[in-house]
Amino acid sequence: MMNDDYHMDLESFRKNGYKAIDWIVDYLESVDDYPVLSEVSPGEIRNTLPEKAPLDGETFDAMLKDVNELIMPGITHWQSPSFFAYFPANSSPPSLLGELISSGLSVQGMSWITSPSCTELETHVMDWLVDMLGLPIKFCSADQGGGVIQHSASDSTLCALLAARERVSDVSINERGANRQLTAYASTQAHSSIEKSCMISGIGRDQLRLIKVDEKFSMDPYALESQIIEDKGKGLTPFFICGCVGTTSTLAMDPIEAIADIAKKYDLWLHVDAAMAGTASICPEFRFINHGVGKADSYTFNPHKWLFTNFDCNAFFVSDRSALIKALSVLPEYLKNKASMEDDVIDYRDWHIPLGRRFRALKLWFVIRHYGIKGLQHHIRKHVEIAQKFKQWVIASDDFELAVDSQLNLICFSHKNGDEITQRILELINSSGEVYLSHTKLNERFVIRMSIGQTHTEMKHVEKAWLLLNRVASEVNS
Ligand SMILES: Cc1ncc(COP(=O)(O)O)c(C=O)c1O
Repeated sequence: MMNDDYHMDLESFRKNGYKAIDWIVDYLESVDDYPVLSEVSPGEIRNTLPEKAPLDGETFDAMLKDVNELIMPGITHWQSPSFFAYFPANSSPPSLLGELISSGLSVQGMSWITSPSCTELETHVMDWLVDMLGLPIKFCSADQGGGVIQHSASDSTLCALLAARERVSDVSINERGANRQLTAYASTQAHSSIEKSCMISGIGRDQLRLIKVDEKFSMDPYALESQIIEDKGKGLTPFFICGCVGTTSTLAMDPIEAIADIAKKYDLWLHVDAAMAGTASICPEFRFINHGVGKADSYTFNPHKWLFTNFDCNAFFVSDRSALIKALSVLPEYLKNKASMEDDVIDYRDWHIPLGRRFRALKLWFVIRHYGIKGLQHHIRKHVEIAQKFKQWVIASDDFELAVDSQLNLICFSHKNGDEITQRILELINSSGEVYLSHTKLNERFVIRMSIGQTHTEMKHVEKAWLLLNRVASEVNS
């Protein structure tokens, strides 16, 4: 019902809210029935929308009807248990409820004073994560460090790079602008967000050195050290290394311990990007991925990938929060308040790029409290177990072969008859709508990636994918 003042009255909101929850439940119950990858062509969704915004307000029922009829055809179903593409962006009911309450509160937690709970719950939950994942205690707020929720791993990497830039330049680049003397390092397999961070931070893409990898696609620390020595010899200033725990293409692990020693020797900032794989360390048996992280200056992983927390929710930790704050803090008169001025509180606006911030800790808090550490471990173990089973099928197959070994939840493989066939198989199984997988290239070879981490993926979904892959492979080869 529309009010005289055009607002949705609260009783209507309540009723529509129930309808929205019903809609989500119906969707999640039937998500497996949709084609996983949207089948629309570019422009098709937009062509169904009215050219102009409505002059008169419309009912919620009309909106919900249009979601069903106009929007749903253009949805790729990331919450389908048969979504195996990219890395997951999984979710869960407790997370959605946390998101809903956060939206209901609609606070903007830029400073402690603008909603103390928004800041303090975030600090607390970030400290919980340090403990839950077996991360170094120096990332805790009680020490010199601390954690903050960012929008994405890309934001965290950019912030780490900026903090490193200001540490090495003694905050002079913030004051006087960038020079072209600083060099950054990551492996050839590093995520594109490192390149983007160099582009937009004034470091420049040319000053990013992509270090070669070994046969497991892990950074070669000897090549890293020689490149640093070469750059220093040219009068350049190496300042930043990004090591990766779980690369995007293959989930390769850079040797963080060895890289950390090099970072220390030459006084470089070491940032560790564990965007997807980081979640695995909630299980003690997977904590091998944390080797060397204790020596890093910063670390990031995405609860919005594999920790059942809906997008967006990235966790970023630093060992020295003052370096981050020095790089990112500005305090105009209109934001001054007693608590901030007395330095008693955390103002998270100084820990990232935007000023404003949502209350994202709430959904993470709900997820952790609902599942408990045991529940989260159960699901992470299950995903890894299913993926490892799939790996064994590939190894035993006459048609497919493993492209690289992996201990966790991403399996990379290709058809033995070469790239063209592998690519054709991928196209056909994705266009079937039954599953969605993505690809990468390794040493110029076309490789299919099977990424297992959607909340409701069970063995039966992976079996279905494997049967489909084999059926399509025999059709393509016949
Ligand atoms: C290793 C790695 N780092 C960073 C990212 C970027 O993540 P985000 O979308 O949170 O920026 C990804 C995305 O898949 C990734 O795989």
